[in-house]
Amino acid sequence: MEERRSKSPGGIKVFDAFPKVATQHSVRSSRGGSSTIFLMIFVLFIAYVEIGDWFDGTMDRNFTVDNNGDDSLNINIDIVVAMPCNFLHTNVLDFTRDRTLAADYLSYEGVNFFIPSIYLLNDQRHVVTPDMDEIMKESLLAEFRIGISDPNSGAPACHIFGNIPVTKVSGDFHITAKGYTYRDFRSNVPPQALNFSHVISEFSFGDFYPFLQNPLDFTARTTNANIQNYQYFLSAVPTLYKRLGVEIDTYQYASTEEEKSFDNPGLGMPGIFFKYDFEAIKLIVEDKRISFTAFVVRLVTICGGLIICFGWAYRGFDKLIILLFGKKVARRGQEKAATFLAT
Ligand SMILES: *[C@@H]1O[C@H](CO)[C@@H](O)[C@H](O)[C@H]1NC(C)=O
Repeated sequence: MEERRSKSPGGIKVFDAFPKVATQHSVRSSRGGSSTIFLMIFVLFIAYVEIGDWFDGTMDRNFTVDNNGDDSLNINIDIVVAMPCNFLHTNVLDFTRDRTLAADYLSYEGVNFFIPSIYLLNDQRHVVTPDMDEIMKESLLAEFRIGISDPNSGAPACHIFGNIPVTKVSGDFHITAKGYTYRDFRSNVPPQALNFSHVISEFSFGDFYPFLQNPLDFTARTTNANIQNYQYFLSAVPTLYKRLGVEIDTYQYASTEEEKSFDNPGLGMPGIFFKYDFEAIKLIVEDKRISFTAFVVRLVTICGGLIICFGWAYRGFDKLIILLFGKKVARRGQEKAATFLAT
């Protein structure tokens, strides 16, 4: 072995951190070769895991007061009610007593009543907490196709869909039968024709992301009562998702519901009522990560540390074998290389 410490001209001892062995003394071993390959694979694996972790970041949730100046938003609706379109009446009534004739914005299409099997039927509890990956993958903005409105087609059920612009105050979107509202009891729709069984494919607030799951999406209710009252109480929380420069500004909501049936239309109003309210806070869901430079420094440190530790472990193992079994065993597999080098 060469002298590792040497005197510099100035007389100061210089310490060489990397032990060097003169090439004529070193032997190539097959054990060393395969462990180097193993080490490289291991380091690559660690690097891969670290890079993946960095991209994923860590989920961070924050609340702020929702002081977004824009106080108008859309309600996105896609519902099928088991009644002909020309019996139905849709409206939004909000806290400021502003009445929006929802029919001006919605499309009506005569269809047959049908509940796809993946829909949750008459299930009271339906909790949806999509994770960040899902939200980012499925945040595809869309618009409803517009134009078709044939309320008098005579089809047994009615497909109601579209976006209704509302102001961000509590309100009530409802689907009732003509002649059964408080205002107007002169009905031309007989009570036996009422059927408020319904299928909800979309009920959301804000920009329309059809692939984001909301609590009422893909749910259905059926009833055997004609005078049936469904009430959904929705509490919407403005939510901003942020990831890698992409922002999705939307709403989450929680839904509780109540259903009642009556023997006679004088006792209660039949219909489907969505009572909604907005929280004054905004939830910001963001994935945070260290800066790219910090990440590279960390990665280099981890990989470098691994390589050095592995080197120590390898040399320590070698020494241990020599100690336990003597040089012969330790040098097994190296004779060829050694003799080759010797000649
Ligand atoms: C309403 O329609 C659904 C589905 O076709 C049916 O199961 C239910 O019995 C009907 N209810 C009434 C009151 O006719």
